[in-house]
Amino acid sequence: MLHKKLKPFPTDFLWGAASAAYQVEGAWDTDGKGKSNWDEFVRIPGKTFKDTNGDVAVDHYHRYKEDIALMAEMGLKTYRFSVAWTRIFPNGKGEVNQKGIDFYNRLIDELVKHGIEPILTIYHWDLPQALQDEYGGWESRQIVEDFRNYSITLFKEFGDRVKYWVSLNEQNIFTRLGYQTGMHPPGVKDDKLFYQVNHHANLANAIAIKEFRNYVPDGKMGPSFAYSPAYAATSKPADILAAENAEELTNHWWMDVYTWGEYPKATWNYLKRRGIAPQVKESDFTLLKEGKPDFMGVNYYQTTTYEKNPLDGATLDGHFNTTGKKGTMESTGIQGLFKTVANKNLETTNWDWNIDPQGLRIGLRRITNRYGLPILISENGLGEYDTVEADGTINDDYRIEYIHTHLKAIQEAITDGVDMIGYCVWSFTDLLSWLNGFQKRYGFVYVNQHEDGKHDLRRIKKKSFYWYKEVIDNNGENI
Ligand code: BG6
Repeated sequence: MLHKKLKPFPTDFLWGAASAAYQVEGAWDTDGKGKSNWDEFVRIPGKTFKDTNGDVAVDHYHRYKEDIALMAEMGLKTYRFSVAWTRIFPNGKGEVNQKGIDFYNRLIDELVKHGIEPILTIYHWDLPQALQDEYGGWESRQIVEDFRNYSITLFKEFGDRVKYWVSLNEQNIFTRLGYQTGMHPPGVKDDKLFYQVNHHANLANAIAIKEFRNYVPDGKMGPSFAYSPAYAATSKPADILAAENAEELTNHWWMDVYTWGEYPKATWNYLKRRGIAPQVKESDFTLLKEGKPDFMGVNYYQTTTYEKNPLDGATLDGHFNTTGKKGTMESTGIQGLFKTVANKNLETTNWDWNIDPQGLRIGLRRITNRYGLPILISENGLGEYDTVEADGTINDDYRIEYIHTHLKAIQEAITDGVDMIGYCVWSFTDLLSWLNGFQKRYGFVYVNQHEDGKHDLRRIKKKSFYWYKEVIDNNGENI
């Protein structure tokens, strides 16, 4: 549909920005914090770009007041951050580390003081290493109970001031990269285990939401799903089927479970035939159905285009661009089902991510039609090189263009009838990219931090900072 006049953004629309503990906090062993799986993994040579780690990151742990002052100056309505499990329970369970609770209390109070709505992510990938060592972390059902206990602790401590919660960040990514491609910890490549691990994560997600109702009855919670809507490369029926397969295997496989507590049929039967379907108990589905979220959190960066993949075709082993050298990303796929192809109609970033604002509108409509849930965009943004000019300015017009066009797409989706809660740009300050070091920047605020040497970590407002401030001031009226 072409709209002549777009509906305005809701007056209580949450204009925001997001981050994650490991990527901003630093202070990796301060105040009793335990070791996470990422604290271990980054020390294995060759795992991250130039072997960068989050030991210091952008030192948000010590500079949160300065960062929140910048958020307040911008007029941010909401800030999404994650809690490091290892600050609360250094060993994943057992005794609470009061200093960890104190830190998040200070952070939350500072946000509230400035009228910024906190959105708290319970889990953004930094698993206590002690749980990995004891029972394989997500590989064991034991994690469900530990995650439940950790979540309840957060509800009790912070539920009075935090009303928006994200359960798991990008379950589809941390399980796939941890257990299918081996690029994230624990660096395993085992398809069967991947589906099992993912089932445990589904149970953890559901139990957290179920408990949430008891402790924060006036709050809202959902997962943050990394949604890359599937396109077919051509109108050949075989390519359309490949895109359908991809939409089901890479998207519905998660979102159906979140919403309905059921796995999609064709994929379930496919996995059964291959002998890699997860082992489930009948009672699991009762729990999964009880864990229905209040909203779908969507992390949207790009669409993916697919074509038919022969039985001896591309696998998930294709090279992933973590260097910023354009054109180095390779095709990946599942043999016999689908494989990715470049979409010639779209521009790409230097990291070969497609830039597709219309894809966001398409995705939002697909979610609305299939699940009927309100949507919070929990991440969207552009990772690019930024240059500090001689006069100290950073003119990131490319980022403004990216966010602008995506906001337009959201407004069109709102006009279509999508129920939108808010929009969190990834990210507020520059931060550590898990595999790409510090050169791939996302922030409105530049941080003088790099892969090599020591830096002063000073904050510099980019051009996009001033632009987004105005968008918020006008509640998106003039975009
Ligand atoms: C999302 C994650 O996948 O994308 C973030 O939730 C991440 O933690 C972001 O940083 C951007 O990815 P990347 O690889 O460019 O840092």
